[in-house]
Amino acid sequence: MEIRETIQRLKKEQDAVILAHYYVRDEVQEMADYIGDSFYLSKLAVDLPQKTLVVCGVSFMGESAKILNPGKRVLLPDPKADCAMAHMITPEKVAALRQAHPKAAVVCYINSTAELKTCSDVCVTSANALKIVRALPNEEIIFIPDENLGRYIASQLPEKTFIFNDGHCPIHARITAADIDAAKAAHPGAPVLAHPECVPAVLEKADYVGSTSGILNYATAHSETAYIIVTECGIGYKLRQQNPGKEFFFITPTPTCEDMKFITLEKIAHALETGEGEVTLEDAQRSRANAPLEQMLALAK
Ligand code: 13P
Ligand code: SF4
Repeated sequence: MEIRETIQRLKKEQDAVILAHYYVRDEVQEMADYIGDSFYLSKLAVDLPQKTLVVCGVSFMGESAKILNPGKRVLLPDPKADCAMAHMITPEKVAALRQAHPKAAVVCYINSTAELKTCSDVCVTSANALKIVRALPNEEIIFIPDENLGRYIASQLPEKTFIFNDGHCPIHARITAADIDAAKAAHPGAPVLAHPECVPAVLEKADYVGSTSGILNYATAHSETAYIIVTECGIGYKLRQQNPGKEFFFITPTPTCEDMKFITLEKIAHALETGEGEVTLEDAQRSRANAPLEQMLALAK
């Protein structure tokens, strides 16, 4: 039987739904019931009636779905698919920062392990970080683990003081200002749309800075017919699907998150068939990691 039919059959048999991040392979996005950025996926997971959530993305996405939905089975088709940034600070360092800045709120990017979430006051995604940090009563903010997203949010909120951690996304942080100049020279007039995980020197050259869904919405809503896209290449699938008459140029070399590409149709079928890749968390850790995620969902409303 064709792999797509097998997945459809298994989904029905197991009351499962497939959620995919914009960075996974085109054929996985094509097979998904819902596609979105980290915020959309975490919000959506809470409202779905199905018993099994197949999360096509990296491990913090599967963990977040499980933390928010303890009663559901969450399957990660490849548990090795991980986000390097999610591990770029230790709980010990967070504790030391808290001790040095007792009045600060610890704001944790959702791209983090469940353990790091347990040390945090509130989670954010790139789509809601500005709104949430602005809404916090604290003047001092400890932003973990991503320094670049933290610096971008700080640049928009001069009334607050930020303490950064030196974490970064290896895919976005390697993009340079010279890469943007080269893309602009090759595609004059095309607006530059960049993800806030890029370094400040890159974001300074962007016409728009936003999450993956922000970039998609911007390109769809605007009338220019060509755009320079400064984020992971997987977003190209939806950009092209939603905008058949427009051109999208990724910077060179094309940013590619190998871990996101670990997810294949074969692995989705295997996870559904065998139950392998189920996300499990201890109750105590899950409930402590749930508080900052719930706080995020409440403040983002
Ligand atoms: P979004 O918050 O835009 O989904 O980004 C997630 C991510 O991993 C970016 O590298
Ligand atoms: Fe993590 Fe970067 Fe991959 Fe996003 S693109 S999952 S931040 S390594």
